Amino acid sequence: MEQLNILTYPDKNLRGLSKPVDNIDGALIGLINNMTSIMYASSGVGLAAIQVGIEKKIIIYDIEQENGKRALQTLINPKIISMDGKTISENEGCLSLPDLRANVKRAASVFAKGIDRDGNPLEIEAEGLLSIVLQHEIDHLNGVLFIDHISALKRNLYKKRVKKKLQKG
Ligand code: NI
Repeated sequence: MEQLNILTYPDKNLRGLSKPVDNIDGALIGLINNMTSIMYASSGVGLAAIQVGIEKKIIIYDIEQENGKRALQTLINPKIISMDGKTISENEGCLSLPDLRANVKRAASVFAKGIDRDGNPLEIEAEGLLSIVLQHEIDHLNGVLFIDHISALKRNLYKKRVKKKLQKG
């Protein structure tokens, strides 16, 4: 199996626009399984294919992992149909933005559509953590990172921190 790694900011590939999946075949399922291993190994709540450098509209997430319990969800070609209300997502994080946690303004609820790994259509009405995870992961497919939603001050501080770290090697 191809070795995939999580891309981290400021990798420009994270800004790419993911393309719709038109065929769910063995290779695609292999990719999803690969992403799943990476997400759990990294203790992530969600992962978009673009985060491992694959420009395909695929997100996976598990908001119920606790004590080894797993409830993996796969959403292919996900799309937010509508958003409602406002909330603050507290201490949001991202595997592509290591060592950063910040409060992010998000919609309180979303209605999303997509298909599952068997090709069945899914409709999801979400609020709370699921709503935030869907917004965060679907943002990735559009090249958007959660730092794009925080204050310029906080964003610039993080950029400086990353720059320093890269210079140190
Ligand atoms: Ni993320």
